[in-house]
Amino acid sequence: MKLRIETKSNLETVKLGRVLGEEILKNGSGNFLIALNGDLGSGKTTFIKGLGRGLGIKNKITSPTFLMVRRYSILKNKKYKNFYHVDAYRIKTKRDLEVTGIEAALSGQNNIIAVEWADLIKKHLKNKTLSIYIKHKNENKRIFLIS
Ligand SMILES: Nc1ncnc2c1ncn2[C@@H]1O[C@H](COP(=O)(O)OP(=O)(O)OP(=O)(O)O)[C@@H](O)[C@H]1O
Ligand SMILES: [Mg+2]
Repeated sequence: MKLRIETKSNLETVKLGRVLGEEILKNGSGNFLIALNGDLGSGKTTFIKGLGRGLGIKNKITSPTFLMVRRYSILKNKKYKNFYHVDAYRIKTKRDLEVTGIEAALSGQNNIIAVEWADLIKKHLKNKTLSIYIKHKNENKRIFLIS
């Protein structure tokens, strides 16, 4: 199935992410991997901020560009305990995946993982649950293609 959703502001994008996060906690099962792609400034991090909110994470979600990954604890959910926010922009080697713990997160059973610039490491993301491409239409308009 393919979905096409338009947002007209960063807040609408945050809300879209939040709705998905709530839905995953209710109905998701197994590792839930979301691969995000889209140009610089298209809204990947903005969407993931909303996702984190939907997962009930109170900590501020900031871009993990230099760290490559940040882990957040999911409280008050029976299935999911960890949310990983990955930025693949600087991931170069398989060793990067190992030392950062990304590989372990990907091979777990009950993690929620959102990856920015996912296509850069796509051969490691074969078991993705959702693929989201964000098209930058104009200053405030974005098209989300979800499959
Ligand atoms: N509809 C919209 N959805 C998301 N962001 C929007 C929208 N309209 C405007 N913006 C703005 O676009 C910017 C998106 O930045 P964001 O950091 O989320 O992008 P990104 O895809 O993560 O970029 P990068 O590739 O650098 O990681 C923010 O400044 C946000 O306020
Ligand atoms: Mg970003």
